[in-house]
Amino acid sequence: VDVDPSAYEHGLVDGRPRMYTEMLEQPASVERALRGRLDERFATAHLGGLEMDARELRAVRRVKILGCGSAYYVGQMGASLIEELARVPADAEPASEFRYRSPVIEPDTLYVAVSQSGETIDTLLAVEEIRRKGGRVIGLVNVVGSAIARACDGGIYLHAGPEIAVASTKALTTMFVGFALLALQLGRVRDLSVADGRRLVAGLQDLPAQIEQVLEGEERIAQAAKALAAAESLFFVGRVRGYPVAREGAQKFKEISYRHAEAYQMSELKHGPLALISPEVPTVAIVPDDELTDRNVAALHEIAARGGPLVVVTHPDVDLGELRAERIDVPRNERELDPLLLTVPLQLLAYHAALTLGHDVDKPRNLAKSVTVE
Ligand code: AGP
Repeated sequence: VDVDPSAYEHGLVDGRPRMYTEMLEQPASVERALRGRLDERFATAHLGGLEMDARELRAVRRVKILGCGSAYYVGQMGASLIEELARVPADAEPASEFRYRSPVIEPDTLYVAVSQSGETIDTLLAVEEIRRKGGRVIGLVNVVGSAIARACDGGIYLHAGPEIAVASTKALTTMFVGFALLALQLGRVRDLSVADGRRLVAGLQDLPAQIEQVLEGEERIAQAAKALAAAESLFFVGRVRGYPVAREGAQKFKEISYRHAEAYQMSELKHGPLALISPEVPTVAIVPDDELTDRNVAALHEIAARGGPLVVVTHPDVDLGELRAERIDVPRNERELDPLLLTVPLQLLAYHAALTLGHDVDKPRNLAKSVTVE
């Protein structure tokens, strides 16, 4: 669904909340974010806006990603992509904290500022602090010509189109694509093989159709959401690649349903939070088909044994055994790209829970679309 941006001026779009229209637009927005940026011949990505040649990209020794809220969580997904594909140490940090701890700015670190609006004051001030100390910052920004885009040395525009709903959806999936392209380009000037490059290029090209498939599962997700909406408090859990997905899922859920939703690493449950599991506290678990599946499934049995209701977002081949759980399957892509597809059902889950509770999903209480004052 390629939505005409002028339709966003006022009120609902075709009688639906904007968040809904924006979620549905994701196959098209991801396609736009990829357009003209994949090079099948050399199995790489071309991001001209970075203003960095191959030699400069090779000289990068570390990547530090800065963003706020959901942009920070996608930044964590991006850090994993960069470490896995380019083998460059990478991490993400909330931009709102960065400036206050007097950070060491290293000349061979590439700083990446992530922002939908390009106007988030904490992210902007972090960019200015880095540049004042001589560091190089690139932006992953949606709004063209915004303050952050202008303050950076170069960057990647997301091409998500206008995003109006406070709960960010389509901008986030294009941020993930931006990181995947950056990781691919950084990887291919280093040791990422042509075969792996091809694998990733093909995986990226498959994303729009696969997002469409996830969106087609809305009915089942809406059913699961109705049950979750009744709980005062719930957990979102995942491990490694699945953990930032869980964080983003919890964030979306709390923003618009006003329920207490807490994200945890599945591996940390037994070190404390398991004490809270009961029939009143459901868990949404992210269980991709990867090297941790068996451990994840074992942890789910621990939750089930304590009567905790479960919604499991997983891949079709994952065997959950006798587990009593509401299962949401998403299509498999290359393992590095799976987080994007695992994120989409969590948007629908939050959306339908909020609708069940009668909330205005586009204008959640106490929140602004972009936070422009400290
Ligand atoms: C996302 O659903 C939130 N509304 C919020 O966390 C948001 O991602 C954050 O405020 C950052 O905004 P930005 O991307 O415009 O910088």
